[in-house]
Amino acid sequence: MTATDRRQILVTNALPYANAALHLGHILEYTQSDIFVRFQKMRGHECYYMSADDAHGTAIMLRADQRGISAEQHIAEMKETHQADFADFHIGVDAYHSTHSEENRELSELIYNRLFDGGYIAQREITQAFDPDKGLFLADRYIKGSCPKCRAEGQYGDNCEVCSATYAATDLIDPVSVLSGATPVEKASTHYFFKLPEFSDYLKTWTRSGTIADEVANKLAEWLDGGLQEWDISRDAPYFGFEIPNAPGKYFYVWLDAPIGYMAAFKHFCATSGVDFDRYWAADSSAELHHFIGKDIVNFHALFWPAMLDAAGFRTPTKVAVHGFVTVDGKKMSKSRGTFINARSYLDHLDPEYLRYYYAAKLTGRVEDVDLNLADFIAKVNSDLVGKVVNIASRCAKFIALHGGQLSGEIAEPALWAEASGAAETIADHFENLNYARAMRDIMALADQANEYIAAREPWKLNKDPANAAKVVAICSMGINLFRVIVTYLKPVLPEMVARAEAFLNDSLSWESAAAPLLNHRVAEFSPLLSRVDPAAVEAMVAANASPAEPVAAPSGPLADEPLAEQISFDDFIKVDLRVAKIVAASAVEGADKLLQLTLDIGGEQRNVFSGIKSSYSPEQLVGRLTVLAANLAPRKMRFGVSEGMVLAAGDQHGIYLLEPDSGAQPGQRIT
Ligand code: 2FM
Ligand code: ZN
Repeated sequence: MTATDRRQILVTNALPYANAALHLGHILEYTQSDIFVRFQKMRGHECYYMSADDAHGTAIMLRADQRGISAEQHIAEMKETHQADFADFHIGVDAYHSTHSEENRELSELIYNRLFDGGYIAQREITQAFDPDKGLFLADRYIKGSCPKCRAEGQYGDNCEVCSATYAATDLIDPVSVLSGATPVEKASTHYFFKLPEFSDYLKTWTRSGTIADEVANKLAEWLDGGLQEWDISRDAPYFGFEIPNAPGKYFYVWLDAPIGYMAAFKHFCATSGVDFDRYWAADSSAELHHFIGKDIVNFHALFWPAMLDAAGFRTPTKVAVHGFVTVDGKKMSKSRGTFINARSYLDHLDPEYLRYYYAAKLTGRVEDVDLNLADFIAKVNSDLVGKVVNIASRCAKFIALHGGQLSGEIAEPALWAEASGAAETIADHFENLNYARAMRDIMALADQANEYIAAREPWKLNKDPANAAKVVAICSMGINLFRVIVTYLKPVLPEMVARAEAFLNDSLSWESAAAPLLNHRVAEFSPLLSRVDPAAVEAMVAANASPAEPVAAPSGPLADEPLAEQISFDDFIKVDLRVAKIVAASAVEGADKLLQLTLDIGGEQRNVFSGIKSSYSPEQLVGRLTVLAANLAPRKMRFGVSEGMVLAAGDQHGIYLLEPDSGAQPGQRIT
């Protein structure tokens, strides 16, 4: 490749919120972009892949609060979990950062200041629902009441799930704050707005300039033609985020600094890699910028984001690739059916490469949903990868090994070789256009041809006569060379399986590898490349994700506010070592509103534990009482010291109730 052919490509994914575990929907998007990145790198382009946790907003602030830890600690833990999940799915990001980072603060301020200086920021007072107990403005999802139209109880502040009416939260009958149970009041405050309508003409052109698929541009045209609204980019304290410059107590709305997180991750990466930030982000950059996102967040990426970048003097995206949602067995993922599958739970049961392949075989580059049909998943992976691809190598390898471990000096079937090798550019186009389904079909057709070639020549029969040795080696060398081309094409999809194939082939594969065969080349010992999908493992995964039936009507009471968690197996449950503990000392913690410091005796060992129960208990009430300790939790470093476990308590907005064993229990006894 000449220097002028070498593209500079920056790829990003939607940044997952730092308040929930990843599920197979996240993995679809990350697989789609990871394949694209690995493909571009294999082609020799300069390609960087950035991601981060989306760490700001009210939901994350409340979640940390609920856990009795700081938002910083909460997001640090979430980030670690997300990173581990992605890594185990072989998602090869070059950097995984956080939107709560200094780089992001600086870039968000810079962009905001440029928008402000350009006259693109408006300021006005608006009135919103406010929780007087919590001292928080309430987004619609934090308000519930009866529908003003059909009077169904327990409806959220924006629409009714029973009659589908849409309304303002202020129209709800008997509204309550989901956070405190208090009746919301109306309160005015000044908000900051981005003057999006000024970019209407710009966006009409931008959305039709090859940046997004027509089907998405058509949807956006409905908004663009209907007239854009100014975008509210501020939120009032308390809010976990960045304070707006020269606006004390006002914070950037999470969606303002989230996409800037792409730039921040890259800035972070540049600091250690020496890559030039401006080369990728300057207004006149010739580098490419590809965002991969789901269909639910198109307006943020194809309206607000390009307008902000343009107004602030940065380059805009080259492409926004939009995918649909994951359905399982044709239906929306559901907790009760066990099809809301957590990424980690998949990894506990199955090889990540099965799913990478299955998703690749389904992704067309269009916005349609991708169905993970579990029976088809088992059949397709077993038939394509094990039955077709791996089979080529396993059938040929043993005869090569028998005859000295060296491939022959020429290609036995030049026409067949030329067909497989010549498919490289067509398959590359499919990868480039994100039509992985088409690429996988073409690759499997080559695998079929290779298997037919071997089956027709029956080397296992020929090999019975030692006089046929050269023929057997020629046939099997041909088979192995076809296998090598096929795994070259599959490398972006199946990096681990292909790494094992590379070890066997004694070769390192780049896209160019498909151009020439291996001749007179020594291969290594063959070891199994992939095992079949075990249907029992799929069943176990579904069982592990299944929770009791979803209630037909929304329950009221605590269950409505905190729905049941995913079902877990007994094996998972007994991993938690619960012990009877005696509280031998208790004290308030200076600087912590909610915490008490407890010293617990668990039968010959003392533990120091911080617990968020101060609102319901005074230290004096607790000393001498028995309670229950989750004793094998990893120690957690808190601002005030290390917490060595967690005491169990029931709790919600109505109060906190410490668990206590029946009288007679002894400190240290295990609870099962
Ligand atoms: O929808 C989401 O999950 C968001 N956290 C995605 C943010 S993408 C980007 F803008 F940061
Ligand atoms: Zn209704």
